[in-house]
Amino acid sequence: MSDHRQKALEYVQDHKEQSLEKLKELIAIPSVSTDPDRAGDIKKAASWIKEELESLGMTRVEIFPTPRHPIVYAEDLSAGQDKPTALIYGHYDVQPEDPVEEWNSDPFTPTEAGDSLFARGASDMKGQVIATISAVEAILKTGDLPFNVKFLIEGEEEIGGSYIKTFIEENTDLLSCDFFLNPDTGMHAPGVPTITYALRGIAYFELRVQGPEHDMHSGTFGGAIHNPAQVMADLIAGLHDEKGRVTLKGFYDRVIPLDDEERQELNKLPLNEEFYLRQGGVEALFGEQGYTPVERTGARPTLEINGLYSGFIGEGQKTVLPAYAMAKVSCRLVADQDPVEVYEQFKAYLEQHAPETVTWELTQMSKDFPSLSDRKSRWIKAYVEAAEAAWGKRPLFKREGGSVPVVAYIQQFLDVDAVNIGFGLPSDNIHGPNEKIDLPTFYKGIEALVHFFFNL
Ligand code: BES
Ligand code: MN
Repeated sequence: MSDHRQKALEYVQDHKEQSLEKLKELIAIPSVSTDPDRAGDIKKAASWIKEELESLGMTRVEIFPTPRHPIVYAEDLSAGQDKPTALIYGHYDVQPEDPVEEWNSDPFTPTEAGDSLFARGASDMKGQVIATISAVEAILKTGDLPFNVKFLIEGEEEIGGSYIKTFIEENTDLLSCDFFLNPDTGMHAPGVPTITYALRGIAYFELRVQGPEHDMHSGTFGGAIHNPAQVMADLIAGLHDEKGRVTLKGFYDRVIPLDDEERQELNKLPLNEEFYLRQGGVEALFGEQGYTPVERTGARPTLEINGLYSGFIGEGQKTVLPAYAMAKVSCRLVADQDPVEVYEQFKAYLEQHAPETVTWELTQMSKDFPSLSDRKSRWIKAYVEAAEAAWGKRPLFKREGGSVPVVAYIQQFLDVDAVNIGFGLPSDNIHGPNEKIDLPTFYKGIEALVHFFFNL
């Protein structure tokens, strides 16, 4: 082991407390990107990252405003042109904390209990942002950087914001690199390092079905005027067939089928039926016939109802024929599906199936592409060896059902591939109440990253 690597690893050990303190500071800023009332906190989080990267000694640090939330960029290219350049990604925004009454501690007061640190964003992904910064810091403070580094840290990941796409498209020189490090995925379990080689895309919609001009008496008018909640229920029910397949015409046309070899590999992962039953605490699983749960969530597209609203949902009863119904519907997409084509398919479905008793409106929110990465690139190899050094185990290779939209744009506009890794665990309850990060995994993650950067 090189002297510098050894010193950097010791630095990580000696500065665990400082890394944790930084994480707590960043977590305490409630940077919820979807909430307009938190725009100030978003700005605060961006400035916090900027100052942190400045104090690291990055040679250039800049906040780029966008029409919505700012992007933080930093670089240190002092290693020189014959060394590889890593573009390290992160997002400083978080999901809303609701349902807030289900939290056992304040969502934005980092709370330690045993090996866990509870707070919104602890795992997704402020912990991972701090882990990459801490790893670079350890290397910088103990010698010269053995690689060139660029940071790209955005504030709209959790709302599928489109400005990151524009930013990448317009700044290909600034962002040029040899590969993209995306630490916004996770590990299968503590001590089980994992590399994610596919992320799903997403097409998110709001569907509004309008019936009568205003709410009406359900006795006087029900039976003569079509109830939009009923229409919505019928429309939604028709989106899956009896085999659990999505019924939109053309939906599966671009899906790259799994070959036998990859199927075998995927099904060797410890993500068996038992795992999904346990994670959800449910009695039975659902999904597309002919595919196992790991295939359904990683390699097949899906359609989910994310929210439904109509009529009276308060305590007690109210006999009302509602004026409208609303549903939030999203499709997770796999390579080579196109989110705008899915919008056209959904529209065609509604044109065919919506009755003339109502009017409807379909709005597309997220339209983000899926990504698929080379499992054998030299960058992946560098991480395989890093994980072996840190955890003493070869990492698992998996496809992720969630989305990190930036990866597809990096592949498209910068023409480089991604290394998707991370230190979140399935049990971290990201996007839910009592989100947490496993601290031993967080510290090990910093070590793994130090190894990775030296392996470059
Ligand atoms: N980090 C997650 C994606 C993820 C989840 C990776 C679980 C690995 C394991 C990311 O921050 C996320 O939640 N993305 C959103 C994107 C959407 C709002 C466009 C998602 O997947 O819902
Ligand atoms: Mn997330």
